[in-house]
Formats: sequence, structure tokens, C-alpha cells
Amino acid sequence: MTSLGARAEFPALEQKINGHSLVYLDSAATALKPKAVIEAISHFYAYEAANVHRGAHALGDSATEKFEDVRASVARLIQAKDATEIVFTKGTTESINLVVQSWGRRFLRAGDVVILTEMEHHANIVPWQNLADEIGFHIRWIPVTDAGELDLQAYQNQLDEKVKMVSLTFASNSLGTVNEVEKFISAAKSMGAKTLIDAAQVMTIRNVDVQKLNCDFLAFSAHKLYGPFGVGVLYGRGEILSEMPPYQCGGAMIAEVTKEKTTFLLPPQLFEAGTPNISGVIAFGHAIQFIRDISAEKISKHEQELTARLLEKLKEFSFVRVIGDSPSRVNIVSFVVDRVHPSDIGQLLNQQGVAVRTGHHCTQPLMKRFGVTGTVRVSLGVYNNEGDIEELIRALKKAWEILV
Ligand code: ALA
Repeated sequence: MTSLGARAEFPALEQKINGHSLVYLDSAATALKPKAVIEAISHFYAYEAANVHRGAHALGDSATEKFEDVRASVARLIQAKDATEIVFTKGTTESINLVVQSWGRRFLRAGDVVILTEMEHHANIVPWQNLADEIGFHIRWIPVTDAGELDLQAYQNQLDEKVKMVSLTFASNSLGTVNEVEKFISAAKSMGAKTLIDAAQVMTIRNVDVQKLNCDFLAFSAHKLYGPFGVGVLYGRGEILSEMPPYQCGGAMIAEVTKEKTTFLLPPQLFEAGTPNISGVIAFGHAIQFIRDISAEKISKHEQELTARLLEKLKEFSFVRVIGDSPSRVNIVSFVVDRVHPSDIGQLLNQQGVAVRTGHHCTQPLMKRFGVTGTVRVSLGVYNNEGDIEELIRALKKAWEILV
């Protein structure tokens, strides 16, 4: 089994939780932060704190240059044609809300259709539902099969000229299924619909190429990529961003303001009103470098091996039922335990130093589809190793013995 030798980079792993060494298995909620990212934030606040796009002084210029360098680095990361297609937001949720409020308000009409999937995170459901209530467009749902995969045929049957947007996740944050988004995007394109991909769960382990995918929008967060909280990315195809109105208004996005009217800057500044999370964006650049230094391929191989090991071990427990068995999956496994509420399992694991997420994972329609109210979710990162899986299995067995 591969080892990435990355553990020493994560100070969080040095601590004990409830008297046990921390076994962190919740990287889908947020990845732990490596020293390079933590130090970048602290260094910025100590020596470099200045605003961007405003200063007439050395610190302002330097902050602006570093901030814009990260935009270029993100563009390279996802193979965007141009750095102006990268908008910084505060996270995936805000990126999706930006599309809904700006693109959706401008282009959707009563009677139009937006297609979502049964496995979406609430962040890719609720903003659309809210606007649908106001405008009167309809939402159609791509069903999920028993294996936890999207039903491509059912999707194709739903496509018609009323569909204006198909918005779906690259990988399920609850089940780990990786969707064949290319097929969904090309079918949407053939009907003239736009596409939005929620890539929050795949960025660490996939080489995402927005030009190959041919999507119109793609959203993700820095904090799931070993970066800081409060920084997200919205990729938008240049031609489409330039047709969209502002999302929020304020400083840093205007060309000129008079008492009568305002003229605006072009994207991406048009969508970045106010002072952004400058230290976060700069530290995000260090997180991208951290991943590059290890390589997405190696991270993917490592996490695939560990995930396979975990699935194999869980199969040995007759009281565990894994939800979804798609062979195409990221570093996430969800399961339920006979007669026991997921949160009870979570608490007993926590008492043994094992951190997992329990509950509906902000995917209540998906939970309903599988007839459960929640699951125990294990998600892996670069720092996990076989010992962590052994610890989880030992702790789970103990929890079962205590509870039943
Ligand atoms: N969306 C994050 C998760 O799946 C928070 O846990």
C-alpha cells in the first residue's frame, strides 16, 4: 500500500482526542491544513497585510500581485482558457448562489426547466428552488439507482428544449460516487442548455479540465483542498460571465460611479465586490502547490487503495450496510449500522479518537431515496494510512459491542 509521507505536514495529527491519537476520517467535510498553508496565513498577517487592487504602496502592490498569481494558478489547475474566467468567492455554496442569482435571474423564465440530481448537496438544490418559486421555472430530477449512480437514460428522456440549465455534482459528497459528468454535459449541450458542475469533492484527486469537460460553470472550495476556509472558486466560461449582471455591488467592481449611474468593471472583478479573503486566497496558492508537489495521481491512487481496503474490511461486519456500490468513487464511504442511529456510532467513535461525519450530509433527498435519515460517513485524505482504517474498524467493533 502506498504511503504519501505527508503526515508530518499536519500539526492537527499530533494531538490526542479523548486520550487517543487523532484518527481523522472527515476530509470530505474539510481537509486538515498543512504547515505551508498555516504559515502562509500567519506570515501574511504579520508582514504583508494590505488590501488588493487599491494600494499606492509596496505592500498593496505585493498583495495584489500574489492574489492575482493565485488566480492564474487556479486557472492552470483546471485548464481554464484565461484567468479572467476565475472568480473568487467564499466557497462552493457562494459560487452556486452567484450563478443562480446572476445567470438565473437574467436568463430563466417561467416555464423553463432546470435539471438537478437526487444526489445533490442542498447547496445545489435550495438556491434553485428559491428562485423557481419566484420566477416560475420547473425543476426536474435525475434519479439515483440502487448502486448510487445517476440514471443516464432517465436523464436523456428528460432533456427537451425547455431545459436551460443542468446543474450536477461531479462526485456525491455522501456516497462518493463519481459521475460521468462528460456525458451529462454533452447531452445538455446538444439541447442548448448550460451546465454547472459542483466539483467540491473531486479537486484533490482528479485532474479537472474545464475545456475538455466543456462545462459552462464549475464550483469548488479551497478548504476541501487542504486550503483555508472562506475561499471558493467559480469558473465561468468567458462569454457567459460577460453576459451576467453583478451578484453583489460595492467597491472594487465599478469603473465609475456618479449620482445618476454606475458603470462596471469586467469579470472577474465584476463579481468580487468588497475586500476579499486575501490571506485565504494567498494561502490557497500554497495548498495548490502542496497538492502539485505530491501529485493528484499519487493522491488518487493512495486514496483509492485505502478506500478499497476500508470497503473490504466493512464487508466483514454483518451489522454494517454500505450505501451505494458504484465502482467509480472518490475517497468517501457511507454506511448504516443495524438498529443503531448513526450519531450514536459517531459519538462512540469520537470517544476513541476517531473523527467521522454522521447525519444527512446536507443531502436529504438522497437519504430519502435510500430510506435512511442519515449515515456514518468516512472520508480519507493524504495523511490517512492503513493504521487509520484498522483503528476505525477496531473502534466500530467496540461501539457495536457497547450498543447492542
Ligand atoms: N459539504 C461538506 C460535507 O459533505 C461540508 O461534509
